[in-house]
Amino acid sequence: MPGENLARSRQEEEDEDDSTTDLSPSRASTHPSASLTVPFSVIAQGAEAVLYRTTMFDGQAVVIKERFRKQYRLPELDEQLTRTRMTAEARATAKAWRLSGVHVPALYLVDWQRRWLVFEYIEGPTLRTWLEGEGSERRARIPEAAAPVLRQVGEAVSTLHAADWIHGDLTSSNVLIRRSGSNDGWGEDAHELQAVLIDLGLAFCSSSCNEHHVEDKAVDLYVLERAFRSAHATHADAYTAIVWQAYAQHSRPQDARAVQKRLELVRQRGRKRTMVG
Ligand SMILES: Nc1ncnc2c1ncn2[C@@H]1O[C@H](COP(=O)(O)OP(=O)(O)OP(=O)(O)O)[C@@H](O)[C@H]1O
Ligand SMILES: [Mg+2]
Repeated sequence: MPGENLARSRQEEEDEDDSTTDLSPSRASTHPSASLTVPFSVIAQGAEAVLYRTTMFDGQAVVIKERFRKQYRLPELDEQLTRTRMTAEARATAKAWRLSGVHVPALYLVDWQRRWLVFEYIEGPTLRTWLEGEGSERRARIPEAAAPVLRQVGEAVSTLHAADWIHGDLTSSNVLIRRSGSNDGWGEDAHELQAVLIDLGLAFCSSSCNEHHVEDKAVDLYVLERAFRSAHATHADAYTAIVWQAYAQHSRPQDARAVQKRLELVRQRGRKRTMVG
């Protein structure tokens, strides 16, 4: 299994030196399981998971998200935490998949033993990369040009919240952009692009019977606002305003008002924390 082999070698590397893992896309290999020979490559590694691109099901491009073991954690706790995260991500992705207007990758397979979630591969950049602009002289995308995509994000989050789901880690790296129309560029006509939410491992359900449900929604939006500020300083406020406007227009007015009020409190708390460090 690619995951098992790499997880083992990664663990050995981790034991020697935390910073030595080679993640270059050229580190492609073959699928050693059964008689199949399937090329796969590492596309990303975070603190908890490594993601591979490969093919399954008669050539369908997929992403394997493997949550690797953390040697420093007690094995039972590691197992438990991994299960919780995998369950949350699988459940929230499946839920979001059924919501009209919310795009997430299809979830194809859950393999508890290998700690795998297997998703549809989404061809396209992250929102973060896309907002940073293209080419050698990269210029941040101006808000007007990015608006159709940012509006989709606001509407998708509003739909998710209306169904009582909180994403839990809304950043511009956790949104992928794919082409939905016939154009073959990434910039010119943002109307033909589709925002796809990913990384729902911290997602949770927060219904109106939960006294914190408005707070949860406000914090979800605040996390995105902070992510814009740290990754896209030049246009962060304008990007945030577009997302918020779409969110508010798409939500029931009383819900939008409640979240807006709470968001202001969350921002105040955030500012205080920033001032005291
Ligand atoms: N379905 C997908 N199709 C294409 N690329 C993907 C897909 N899912 C993830 N990726 C790529 O892998 C990167 C990391 O994925 P993801 O955000 O799910 O993991 P992570 O941030 O490491 O996870 P976690 O925060 O749960 O540890 C994404 O930013 C994206 O570039
Ligand atoms: Mg992520």
